[in-house]
Amino acid sequence: MEEKLLTIEGLNAFYGKSHVLQNISLEANKGEKIVVLGRNGMGKSTLLKAIMGLKEVTRKGSILFRNEEMIERRTDEIARAGIAYVPQGWLLFSSLSVDEHLRIAYRPAKSDHEWTPERIYSTFPEIAQRKDTGGTKLSGGEQQILAISRALVGNPGLILMDEPSEGISTMVIERIIGICQDLASQGVSILVAEQNLDLAQRIADKVYILVNGQIIYCSGITEFIHDKENQKKHLGV
Ligand SMILES: Nc1ncnc2c1ncn2[C@@H]1O[C@H](COP(=O)(O)OP(=O)(O)O)[C@@H](O)[C@H]1O
Ligand SMILES: [Mg+2]
Repeated sequence: MEEKLLTIEGLNAFYGKSHVLQNISLEANKGEKIVVLGRNGMGKSTLLKAIMGLKEVTRKGSILFRNEEMIERRTDEIARAGIAYVPQGWLLFSSLSVDEHLRIAYRPAKSDHEWTPERIYSTFPEIAQRKDTGGTKLSGGEQQILAISRALVGNPGLILMDEPSEGISTMVIERIIGICQDLASQGVSILVAEQNLDLAQRIADKVYILVNGQIIYCSGITEFIHDKENQKKHLGV
């Protein structure tokens, strides 16, 4: 049976007086992969920041996660509830090594699928070899893998990823697609904001399209792949 994990209803988000997200509704089940598509400036990053409760965004509406209301909670409380965030541009620290990034973010979990720093190293040998290197000294692809790993060691139920395909090679994009599929099969849900249609089509179970801060389209992936008209109209592809 499908188990509802995230239910967003009537979400509005603002930067000061600027009203960016308008009346967003979105749902994710356990282990589901959702992709939010939209051109530049349509509100994808704002949506992830609003879910995460980042200070720069003021939000109104309802964000239920595991049946608990997140809208009044702080970012650290939302992270502890089980939502992790992989920001656009990764936001790693030059003063922390790869290993320190993982140790600081590690939150033990009572689960057969627990992510520890050790499990990260055996899963992602590319960063295991660079344990003592400063986070920002890694290549773009390695930084993306570290940013995802930092999210994973928090043992979240939901991972928000902001444009994971940006600034990395097609080889690393393939890696990210594989990681998302593995995570979903272990029951972790993924919400990806993207402009890359190919990646979206290969990752998503369900697609939402954002235009000027509003969800104007939602469908299952099979229907979306055949819907060339909406792809062209809203994404310009
Ligand atoms: N910190 C901010 N302050 C004010 N306006 C912002 C800020 N960040 C983004 N915006 C505006 O919000 C809108 C949505 O931006 P964003 O969520 O970054 O879009 P996307 O991620 O889809 O490219 C844009 O009009 C952008 O200019
Ligand atoms: Mg963005």
